[in-house]
Amino acid sequence: MPDLTWLQPADDDATAEALSSRFTARLGRLPDGVWAAPGRVNLIGEHTDYNNGYCLPLALPHRTYAAVSGRDDGILRIGSAQKSHGWEGRVTDIRQGRPAGWPAYVAGVAAIFAERAGAQELGADILVDGHVPLGAGLSSSAALSCAAGLALRDLVPALAELEPADVAAACVRAENEIAGAATGGMDQTIAMRAVDGHLVLLDCQDFSVVPVAWTLPDHEVLVIDTRAHHALADGQYAVRRQTCEVAAAALGVRSLREVTPDQLVEGQVRALLAQIPDGAARVRHVVTENRRVLDLVSALREQDAQTVGELMTSSHSSLRDDYEVSCRELDLAVDAAIDAGAAGARMTGGGFGGSAIALVRREEAELIAEAVVGAFTDQGLEAPHLLEAVPSGPARRLR
Ligand code: GLA
Repeated sequence: MPDLTWLQPADDDATAEALSSRFTARLGRLPDGVWAAPGRVNLIGEHTDYNNGYCLPLALPHRTYAAVSGRDDGILRIGSAQKSHGWEGRVTDIRQGRPAGWPAYVAGVAAIFAERAGAQELGADILVDGHVPLGAGLSSSAALSCAAGLALRDLVPALAELEPADVAAACVRAENEIAGAATGGMDQTIAMRAVDGHLVLLDCQDFSVVPVAWTLPDHEVLVIDTRAHHALADGQYAVRRQTCEVAAAALGVRSLREVTPDQLVEGQVRALLAQIPDGAARVRHVVTENRRVLDLVSALREQDAQTVGELMTSSHSSLRDDYEVSCRELDLAVDAAIDAGAAGARMTGGGFGGSAIALVRREEAELIAEAVVGAFTDQGLEAPHLLEAVPSGPARRLR
């Protein structure tokens, strides 16, 4: 039997206490508070958010924590419990690529908020402690920006009126404009607006959210972090997004959200898409994926685990064959989980590595996990890490 590594969430109180002490040891005073924001898995609806479509994420109990004290001198100091390097500078100095790396997700949201609060005044000392696995496609970056963003909202009087949706929107802009990643908004929205015990049906046309109950008590969502991360991923994400935008323009619609599955077979639509490299396949993924999200929500309401599983698996095939964002490790995780008895499985998140998810009977979760890990070690690949996707609550202040 292979050894299984289950990644458990951190205990909120103990982590907040320890982080607070660490902050005090480094800076000589207590933080004003400690905030936490969750990572996520998306049950279905991948690469639809930037096409104004649907997705169905849930917040994980795995969170990123931030101990924060406000300052009123326009200075930001960012440190991490995990990383040796942080960043210190003036809020007025923040721009795309500066700072680089992980501090951009914290500095970015400060820079966006400074438009409202004033870059000479807004500042903070921020120490973060990440318990969302990094590079696993579970949105550790949105957890980071949302924990910092919520802290600033709570500490800076000029931001006090902002709603969770406004904080999420600022974090999306921080990621797009400062960190330089053209992502779509699903991750920040679920981090800020998750509903404990529920999935969230997110309509990215207007970012409205509808809580969807988990109606399958005998089943759980097993997360398989393949620990694979392939280079070029970020560039490929931008290329996919651009192809979608070019296709929408060619079809004369504001976004691919407006295209129906029936239209895909119309001669004129096919002719227009044939002129765009990979256009037909990419659009087919987005259009059919939007439909699968709504079908899966109906299947969940009918407590139909089999259909939920089948929709997850067809989503994976579409991402693998039409959208071409899967990879060997993700395909292996999906195939091995299904062979071992999962009702369905798919990659989750942006792709090119990261995590897959499988719908499994609770009583079979351990066995299926063993089979997946066994399949990886048989092929000489590093053993995946495992998490249980317990639908959890949104970003919040802990103390
Ligand atoms: C990444 C992005 C999201 C979304 C997914 C794909 O996680 O951050 O905005 O586009 O990829 O569904």
